[in-house]
Amino acid sequence: MCGIVGYVGQKQALEIVVAGLRRLEYRGYDSAGVAVISDGQLEVRKKAGKLANLEGLLGSDPLPDSTTGIGHTRWATHGGPTDDNAHPHVSEDVSIAVVHNGIIENFAELKDELATAGVHLTSETDTEVAAHLLAREVPLADGDLPEAMRRVCRRLEGAFTLVALDRTQPDLVVAARRNSPLVVGVGEGENFLASDVAAFVDHTREALELGQDQVVVLTPDSITITDFAGEPVEATPFTVDWDASAAEKGGYDLFMLKEIAEQPKAVADALRGRISKDHRIQLDETSLDEAVLRDISKVVVVACGTAAHAGLVAKYAIEHWTRLPVEVELASEFRYRDPIVGPDSLVIAISQSGETMDTLMALRHAKAQGARTLAICNTVGSTIPRESDAVLYTYAGPEIAVASTKAFLTQIIAAYLVGLYLGQVRGTMFEDEIRRILGELDDMPSKVDLVLDTTEHVRELARELADSTSVLFLGRHVGYPVALEGALKLKELAYMHAEGFPAGELKHGPIALIEDGVPVIVIVPSPQGRAVLHDKIVSNIQEVRARGALIIAIAEEGDEAIVPYADHIVRVPAVPTLMQPLVSTVPLQVFACEMATAKGHDVDQPRNLAKSVTVE
Ligand code: M6R
Repeated sequence: MCGIVGYVGQKQALEIVVAGLRRLEYRGYDSAGVAVISDGQLEVRKKAGKLANLEGLLGSDPLPDSTTGIGHTRWATHGGPTDDNAHPHVSEDVSIAVVHNGIIENFAELKDELATAGVHLTSETDTEVAAHLLAREVPLADGDLPEAMRRVCRRLEGAFTLVALDRTQPDLVVAARRNSPLVVGVGEGENFLASDVAAFVDHTREALELGQDQVVVLTPDSITITDFAGEPVEATPFTVDWDASAAEKGGYDLFMLKEIAEQPKAVADALRGRISKDHRIQLDETSLDEAVLRDISKVVVVACGTAAHAGLVAKYAIEHWTRLPVEVELASEFRYRDPIVGPDSLVIAISQSGETMDTLMALRHAKAQGARTLAICNTVGSTIPRESDAVLYTYAGPEIAVASTKAFLTQIIAAYLVGLYLGQVRGTMFEDEIRRILGELDDMPSKVDLVLDTTEHVRELARELADSTSVLFLGRHVGYPVALEGALKLKELAYMHAEGFPAGELKHGPIALIEDGVPVIVIVPSPQGRAVLHDKIVSNIQEVRARGALIIAIAEEGDEAIVPYADHIVRVPAVPTLMQPLVSTVPLQVFACEMATAKGHDVDQPRNLAKSVTVE
């Protein structure tokens, strides 16, 4: 969703801001704009469409030199993606420019107030009210922009990151944050603001996490943070543990291809340092109190999209290992149905970005009920881990492609570690059982590597099937969430009807969708594991095959029993049942990526989607 960049320092702000916006493109957007201060004037350029359009405008109508600037990529909410609705928005006297991420929920009432006062609004956005309110407040605050910002923020409802420039204060950038992401980059003689660190990691890896309801004031040499009442607050410093090259394609055509290929390393990184020499789980960094973990009576996972699928996979493992009931709930539904959570519940919020608003709100609801909370997250310094009692980072490195890949595998690993830790602490698992599973996890980077070595067949199939109108995915047990994930990838990237089903459920309705030639991708359970699952899925395959389906089986090496029932077989290495999602998901990622490429789609930034969904 919206990306924000702010800069104040000695260099040309425009270059830094536009390069930062380029780094934030992956978040998804449909217009872009910049503002700088020069000679006591605010200069704004903005344009609907991709950054290239803005760059075109900057080419024909250049901005003057300036060392202070802000920029924005907008994902439309209030008002379509037009030039007028693009940010920055300015006050009538062009004294104040503002960029905004989030939704100002009481904007209609504020708009009426402004209209009554004779202010003329030129866009359909909620953001513009903030620019006018600030411009009216600055003189009342004796020209003190930070104080004016605090006063305005106290009147705003909803979620917002606001960043403002005042034409009379050329070395000042002021920002406020409630519920929407914002991090500070700490430089020497220069400072940065951005929706995420990717925007400034080229310049500095030293950053500050901002808390809720805070106002930050940047000059080239200082960073001052207060709450909305004006009381000084300390921010938490952190160092970005990856460099700019990690956020580049590194020789791949697509970020998604790079991130698929990075999965063996990501899995290894997610495990690193978490297993002691005597084969016990050590999750000290989570600061989860063992006594608390012994007392909980259930686990609830809240997450969205792919992260929710990782939670569904983990449910099978955690329930099996700990005998604790595990509920997995889509975060957007959780708090609106009066869920039963309390001090005896461990609520795990899974999120790659750590900023997903639905997940954040579910987490807050759980905390308000007294639940213990743990974040499984990839983005250090983001809101969800900061607001959780404990955090387990996935250390997958930056995930830029909108379609989640390495985040999914590492979320499963992290959730499995939590499950094993619970088993260890609560004494529901024997030590040798934990040791065996840790050994299996340790094998996974090389197994995923093997899958990556054999993707050509999947690519061919994707190209052959690119004209299909629908693809169905079937799985059982942990293969069911894998089926959901395969279908989600295809919907996101190939813009194709795709659905994942528990294979046994098909005959209760969805089998009506089967007609001649419909591709059905089946995640086949291992015949070595729970043979009954294998047998059952063979029956399910026969049911759809009898009705004309084209069967593509994702089956383990050596499973010869599947041969008579499949039109195509994609082989994955044989692994224990609970490890299967870590290998069987990979061909489905490759399949979706290749099909989208064959159809000529923008794989890394699919239409209508945002990487980080910061509105509810
Ligand atoms: O950042 P999060 O993990 O909280 O994001 C959750 C979903 O929005 C995300 O997984 C989404 O479904 C992906 N685009 C799927 O590929």
